[in-house]
Amino acid sequence: MVTPSAPTPSDVAAKLTPPEPQAIVVFGATGDLTRRKLLPALYHLYLEGLLPPRFAIVGYSRRELSDDDFRKLAHDACMEFGRCRMDRQEWDAFAAGLSYVQGDYMGAGALAPLRTKLEELDRERGTEGRRFYYAAVPPDTFDHVVTRLEEESMTGDARLVIEKPFGSDLESARELNAILSRGFDESQIFRIDHYLGKETVQNILVLRFANALFEPVWNRRYVDHVELTVAEDIGIEGRGRFYERTGAIRDMVQTHLFHVLTFLTMEPPVAFEPEDLRTEIVKVLRSMRPVRPEAVVLGQYEGYTEESDVDPASTVETFAALRVEIENWRWAGVPFFLRTGKRLPRRVAEAHVVFRDVPHEVFESIGAPEIPPNSLSLRIQPDEGISLSITVQRPGFGIELDVAALDLDFGQAFGGLELVEAYEHLLLEAMHGDQTMFVRQEAVERSWEVVEPLIDQQLSPSPYRPGSWGPAEADALIAPRRWMTT
Ligand code: BG6
Repeated sequence: MVTPSAPTPSDVAAKLTPPEPQAIVVFGATGDLTRRKLLPALYHLYLEGLLPPRFAIVGYSRRELSDDDFRKLAHDACMEFGRCRMDRQEWDAFAAGLSYVQGDYMGAGALAPLRTKLEELDRERGTEGRRFYYAAVPPDTFDHVVTRLEEESMTGDARLVIEKPFGSDLESARELNAILSRGFDESQIFRIDHYLGKETVQNILVLRFANALFEPVWNRRYVDHVELTVAEDIGIEGRGRFYERTGAIRDMVQTHLFHVLTFLTMEPPVAFEPEDLRTEIVKVLRSMRPVRPEAVVLGQYEGYTEESDVDPASTVETFAALRVEIENWRWAGVPFFLRTGKRLPRRVAEAHVVFRDVPHEVFESIGAPEIPPNSLSLRIQPDEGISLSITVQRPGFGIELDVAALDLDFGQAFGGLELVEAYEHLLLEAMHGDQTMFVRQEAVERSWEVVEPLIDQQLSPSPYRPGSWGPAEADALIAPRRWMTT
């Protein structure tokens, strides 16, 4: 049944049409993020016919490059990190839209050449004066970027995408917001958390709110606990300077893990509309209690202090496991166990909703062993899918109980369809001006409040062996339960 407020097929299709003509400016055009994610995502959107019909992509950064150098950088980036075909003709047409402006953000008028370039592109490529800025620059540069844009009257009704970290604590997050608000209205600011663009994260909402089956049991009455593990096998990959100021709590917990947690725990929004959804996210974050330091285990992998740009006496955590509580009618008393870290055994992100035991063991009387509880596992990456573990009768004589899984593999279920990259989803949505999957300032502030006790206390991490699941204390934190991702 389609309710009057439900999106009509044409609304949905509208999102799959190319955005309006616009010029896309990438500040920080030679950086890692631009090469690994943004340029390949833009090229892929182009191949899908989802870039604006008239577009220009301008790279802006300090390095001296010609337009052709930038095109080459983009080509190499798409070859190395892209997931799509490199077709000569298609590439040439895309590359014709790429240009480069060299400059910094320091003195007044620094962006004047960019402004002139954009005006030129409006005439040459028909971008109609619409601006889409992507600030792929370190957080301490945001202030300068906004100031310079303002000076040149370049904010107007432009959209600005900014990358996490949104501050490094509550106070600095507020300061950052004050800076952004000088030049931009909240409706123009797109705070990106790429986890919200992952298909399986978005699927959590569909699973919960488009199926009658799960929502009735999605609460304290039926759920024993929830685990969310986001593990990486890589270390800090030469990002010592960044990581020394960040650590796992700021880099992963306060951002990606909390956002996935809000999707797992929010109330059903009134409609799948930006403000309805973002309001529910803020509501559930407000119900989260500030994390108690005794409910946290921090770790640091052995060898971390020998990485480049890392203080040999560093106490920055590369691993965190914590117990989070949500004080509302749905979740009171249900523990949420979150775990993340670098140099763990493998790259995996999974959420497990573990249900309570059956109220009465009918099969005990015939000597059946204790049956494990049901659990629903959401595989965010890799092998994206959903698995429901249930107890069944093992084929054969007599009654013998066993556990089996109803397993859905997204790739296979949809005929080997490749999943769309998070940045592709999010760039497309931002170019359309759709803020649904972008983070509201209130959510940023509340997440900082929740982790504030940990940041204030400066807890010291326990060492762990690279390739292990972190310090042994993490097992004690969840006991008598056990981590399901292994
Ligand atoms: C980034 C963090 O936001 O997310 C990195 O800064 C981390 O430290 C990365 O490696 C993980 O993202 P993904 O998509 O590879 O799981």
